[in-house]
Amino acid sequence: MADEITLEVARYRPGVDAEPVMQQYQVPLREHWAILDGLTYIKDQLDGTLSFRWSCRMGICGSCGMTVNGEPQLSCATFLTDYAPGPIRVEPLRNFPVIRDLVVDIDDFMTKLPTVKPWVIRDVDEPEPRAGQLGEPDGFVEACIGRGASIDGNQDALVHGHGGLLGWQRLDSAPGRDAGP
Ligand code: FES
Repeated sequence: MADEITLEVARYRPGVDAEPVMQQYQVPLREHWAILDGLTYIKDQLDGTLSFRWSCRMGICGSCGMTVNGEPQLSCATFLTDYAPGPIRVEPLRNFPVIRDLVVDIDDFMTKLPTVKPWVIRDVDEPEPRAGQLGEPDGFVEACIGRGASIDGNQDALVHGHGGLLGWQRLDSAPGRDAGP
């Protein structure tokens, strides 16, 4: 395995660049390094001006969502070795306004999020569903939640898809008890 891999990273500086440009960086190709580790290496060692978001680093929060080789991915859960020998093209999520480099504007997403009602609003006279009646989608739902960024092509789908799936998982975990807030 090579010692290094090339990351081609989209750079965009508002007020300076007319449009995003791709910039190449060589980063160590380590077995357990995620794309996010490569970007952190760039920021710490090569170019401190690179901007990107992350929070949990464990595939939960979704804040590190980026487009990797044309596909939406969580950069903390996507590994450099999966793309060896490279290069790996890293761009911001599509269909979101770009604020700077890999950072997108999620204000519209956050505005729409409270409109999601991810629970069952049922008639109180109806019998409660029994455990197991709602199917067994746990594995699928967890996989989809982990890949919330995979719906990046459409902000409405991201809000309602991701939020809805979260609610579905909660309902499936406790059938019969969920009837809204
Ligand atoms: S940093 Fe939270 S999902 Fe990647």
